[in-house]
Amino acid sequence: MRLSVFGCGYLGAVHAAAMASIGHEVVGIDVDPRKIESLSQGKAPFFEPGLADLLAEGVASGRLSFTTDASAAQGAAVHFIGVGTPQQADGYAADLTYVNAAIDDLIPYLSAGDIVAGKSTVPVGTAGALAERITPTGATLVWNPEFLREGWAVQDTIDPDRLVAGVPAGDEGIRAADLLREVYHPAVAKGTPFIVTDYATSELVKVAANAFLATKISFINAMAEISEVTGADVTQLAEAIGHDARIGHRFLGAGIGFGGGCLPKDIRAFSARAEELGRGESVAFLREVDAINLRRRERAVQLVIEGLGGSVFGKKIAVLGAAFKPHSDDIRDSPALDVAVRLNGLGANVVVTDPEAIENARRKHPQLAYEPARDEAIRDADAIVLVTEWDEYRRDLAPEHASSLTAGRVVIDGRNGLDAAAWRKAGWTYFGMGRP
Ligand code: UDX
Repeated sequence: MRLSVFGCGYLGAVHAAAMASIGHEVVGIDVDPRKIESLSQGKAPFFEPGLADLLAEGVASGRLSFTTDASAAQGAAVHFIGVGTPQQADGYAADLTYVNAAIDDLIPYLSAGDIVAGKSTVPVGTAGALAERITPTGATLVWNPEFLREGWAVQDTIDPDRLVAGVPAGDEGIRAADLLREVYHPAVAKGTPFIVTDYATSELVKVAANAFLATKISFINAMAEISEVTGADVTQLAEAIGHDARIGHRFLGAGIGFGGGCLPKDIRAFSARAEELGRGESVAFLREVDAINLRRRERAVQLVIEGLGGSVFGKKIAVLGAAFKPHSDDIRDSPALDVAVRLNGLGANVVVTDPEAIENARRKHPQLAYEPARDEAIRDADAIVLVTEWDEYRRDLAPEHASSLTAGRVVIDGRNGLDAAAWRKAGWTYFGMGRP
């Protein structure tokens, strides 16, 4: 099937490449000529495991192409909208500028019977408004939220755990859902749940899922705060409660909290939309979820200050990690980088290392020092702060090896990823998050 994908960022580029890999003929469209140039050469403009191979294969096969020219969408049966919906500069609501611009660009090239499939995360009510603009062309709008995780985006796109299609009522909606089933044929054939619903539900499914995940993380981080004043160990607490199948172990990792391009802005946009709908109180807890999350960054900074005897001024601090999570170069709303910036602001001599995110981090925070080699970053450091749990830091950095390089023996484990006993045994003063 011929497909177009508007937006070639973390969502759209992966979607385009993944759809080509399952046999479709796909054109990716983006307003950024640099991104398009890189993608057209089969090169990923950002780090996402598996994407580079998929792009190279897709472009070489001739089934995958990229352009800045929206007219290339003409003739595609399904047009995906995968542009960003960032937080507005002056508030909590989502900025729909890019979604509206993509629809404006697409409308002149739509034909009767086409499907427009929105994947961007939008405030509930957006799809209904967009459908009204699309209807005169004879095309049908479907809301098809995306649940991919960065770092696992290729796998999550080709083999998602569920597919959701918000469609209009009647035959038009049935036909649209059927066409979408054809698009996702390998996942549908293996029995992946395919939920057909209305626009509002499909939009809410996405924000509700992210709100739930954010709440789960902040719940365990709240337990970390209580553990800190009681001498309890939140990692053992999480292990124990997670054995209850109703709770489960995933997303119970206490640490410096969530970040990235989705969870923080999605819970804020949800709060803002609920206020607009007169139901602010229904999700008022999300403000607490946000507040707990942000407090954990400050807690990590406090632990560094404590570990260094009351002040970080003039101390060399190696910050391990800049990306908001491992297997990604994404630094949007990264708690890791925030901790580095705060320490730098307190007069510390901060050196940040990360296997993939240094270039992005340097562009945003040129005031920090960066060192790609882990061992060089920790050389002569007074303290080590682990803030992104890349294997290079969490699994592969032996305390004895670290001791041979650093000046001090203070380690702050912002992700509770290190073996505390092993570090202590090697002579280090170890601080975890919510652990004695
Ligand atoms: C999230 C959703 O998981 C995904 O379904 C949605 O499509 C987009 O938003 P992503 O932003 O890629 O995906 O990251 P995710 O893996 O959810 O992690 C978010 C943040 O939570 C990271 O900063 C991570 O470090 C943090 N986290 C995760 C914790 O602090 N503790 C945990 O136990 C799990």
